[in-house]
Amino acid sequence: MRRVAKRISETPKKSFGMYQKAAELGARGADLIHFELGKPYADTPGHIKQAAIDALLAGEVHYSDLRGTPELRKTLARKLNERNGIAASADDVLVTNGLTHASFAAFMALIDPGDEVILLEPYYPQHLGKIELAGARAVIAPLDAADDFTLKPALIEPAITPRTRMIVLVNPVNPTGRVYSREELQGLADLAIRHDLLVLSDEVYEDIVFDDHKHISIASLPGMAERTVTAFAFTKSYAMDGWRLGYAVAPSWAMAGMLKITANDATHVNTFIQAGARAAIEGPPEPLEDLVDEDRRKRDVVVRRLNQMPGVRCALPQGAIYAFPDISDFGLPSQVMAERILEEARVVVEAGSFYGPAGEGHLRICFGSESIERIEIGLDRLQAFFNGLWQAGAAGNGVGNG
Ligand SMILES: Cc1ncc(COP(=O)(O)O)c(C=O)c1O
Repeated sequence: MRRVAKRISETPKKSFGMYQKAAELGARGADLIHFELGKPYADTPGHIKQAAIDALLAGEVHYSDLRGTPELRKTLARKLNERNGIAASADDVLVTNGLTHASFAAFMALIDPGDEVILLEPYYPQHLGKIELAGARAVIAPLDAADDFTLKPALIEPAITPRTRMIVLVNPVNPTGRVYSREELQGLADLAIRHDLLVLSDEVYEDIVFDDHKHISIASLPGMAERTVTAFAFTKSYAMDGWRLGYAVAPSWAMAGMLKITANDATHVNTFIQAGARAAIEGPPEPLEDLVDEDRRKRDVVVRRLNQMPGVRCALPQGAIYAFPDISDFGLPSQVMAERILEEARVVVEAGSFYGPAGEGHLRICFGSESIERIEIGLDRLQAFFNGLWQAGAAGNGVGNG
């Protein structure tokens, strides 16, 4: 009687990274600086909250369309056409409980047990978990840190077998901060078309791009819309992580399958909060611009100061809310480093290896979830930690610059 389903018991147990360890320390009263979770620091803009409150008070409290309210889907279809270059009608859109539910519905609807799904490494660990829950096998295509994690078909093609069904793309990338260029995406698109593969494109950070970088949806490239499920969310762009609101756009045959999953699990997203989502897209652009400006300022401080620390080299993130500094000069596994930083510096960072072996030698530092003042305190603590470690190495104890 006391047994869980095989799909749970046979799925390798996932670690929660540093989050759980930090929560235990935090519960014991430790003053921690949180650079681990990608939780936006900003509050949800007021006009978005007000739209949801108005809808609630107006009685939008009942079951609605399984795919999402027609009004919201119309708004999203317009946005997809105008901003993403994806030709979509309201019926091609499914409103979901965050991006998490969009990708879950896609994996469950499109992947069979025994299929292989390619993950570009470093990968987002949740995707791995969901591929395994679907009974499929994740096949890793490692990108090269020494080549700025550039997306190259030659690194992906060897992972393709007759069982390969799908490639998962995250763009902009958590954890590396890369924003893929049109050329990189075209290389992946050519590969998908040549081998007749699906693409699941996670674009949760579509709006958080810096400098001259441009976010391009792979589904906008010729021949890709018919083989791509693109997943988006309100989570990062509008600081709406707790609202659990996302959406997917997919070709009609795939959407029919995803709808069947949704009809049997979430049913649909809360009716009145969808009014907030509509206000987010149709409202003034300033809140999003301010959020990205603030993230850019934080990125600049974090990267400048990391590069002043001994043994630390950090590339400038092009998008998303993560710095991914190289700490390989210390010669310590990144998990050991993250645990020592938590214990000794009271700063929570993620180990690069949490995102797969290609992330080893790095740490992931989220600059989006603390105030600038707390970020500075965290950086002071990291500076003291790395100074100490570097000097210890110079003194000949096997750690550091020797
Ligand atoms: C790459 C990526 N995909 C999906 C998610 C989850 O998005 P949501 O909270 O909308 O489910 C995150 C959250 O950090 C993420 O980094």
